Amino acid sequence: MIFEAIRHILTPARREVRALGYVREAIAIEARYGRHHTAWASHLARCRLNILAAAKSLPPASTIMIIGSGALHDVPVEALLSEGHKLLLVDIFHLPKVRRRYRKHDRVHFIEQDVTGLVKNLYQRKIIAKTAFTLPKADLVISLNILSQLPINLIKYAARHNIALPDNFARDIMSGHLALLGPGALLISDLERRYEKDGVPLETEAALPVPGLSTPVDQWDWHIAPGGELDRKISLTHQVGCWHIQSPSP
Ligand SMILES: C[S@@+](CC[C@H](N)C(=O)[O-])C[C@H]1O[C@@H](n2cnc3c(N)ncnc32)[C@H](O)[C@@H]1O
Repeated sequence: MIFEAIRHILTPARREVRALGYVREAIAIEARYGRHHTAWASHLARCRLNILAAAKSLPPASTIMIIGSGALHDVPVEALLSEGHKLLLVDIFHLPKVRRRYRKHDRVHFIEQDVTGLVKNLYQRKIIAKTAFTLPKADLVISLNILSQLPINLIKYAARHNIALPDNFARDIMSGHLALLGPGALLISDLERRYEKDGVPLETEAALPVPGLSTPVDQWDWHIAPGGELDRKISLTHQVGCWHIQSPSP
């Protein structure tokens, strides 16, 4: 914990990114990955497999954009590069050590972008107002374990600063993200969170209150917080789904 706090102070980041907790979260995810990489392994492998399957039909030297790239644990970077693809890695924050790993690679590009467009206004003006942004074009767009996360830090910051949120705030952010992805994109996201005590289900909550998502083409469990992480006896498992986003029906 002390190590994480020191690292947080020393890691450079834009003010709003730090204030809304994205740096703290990136450091915490790294630490959690260190503690639970064995429990996470099958989830990470399944993400990589689905990404490789989606990239298989692309011609060599295509451009692949990954939104929610973070620390890249769930991205088959080397395999995609070996096909000659160019990677656009989009996240509000990448740890310096992640950027350093590919600093000299001319086909790996890090893009630090808030994909809700809300973070800066919420921090600077304490209002909910969207700043328009564009992402570069890509042959394949992948939204990777980010969809359900998008409203979380915004809601926490608004609560800390008594900023009123519009009705359906979380749902609208997620719907906006799906619209940003567009048809042909690959979506990987948790869809349900399951708390268990000594292996007995305690509570299940839906992670995706967005209408219009079809049945996932693949589904698996991510043992994100085995017993001992959140509580001595309680564990948390995410049910994760994978979708190929279709064109809206006419
Ligand atoms: C669960 S992590 C994804 C896992 C990641 N691929 C990894 O291996 O570390 C969710 C990611 O969403 C990013 N994120 C959350 N809100 C964001 C926003 N508004 N814009 C862009 N990225 C955001 C976080 O920074 C984090 O890296």
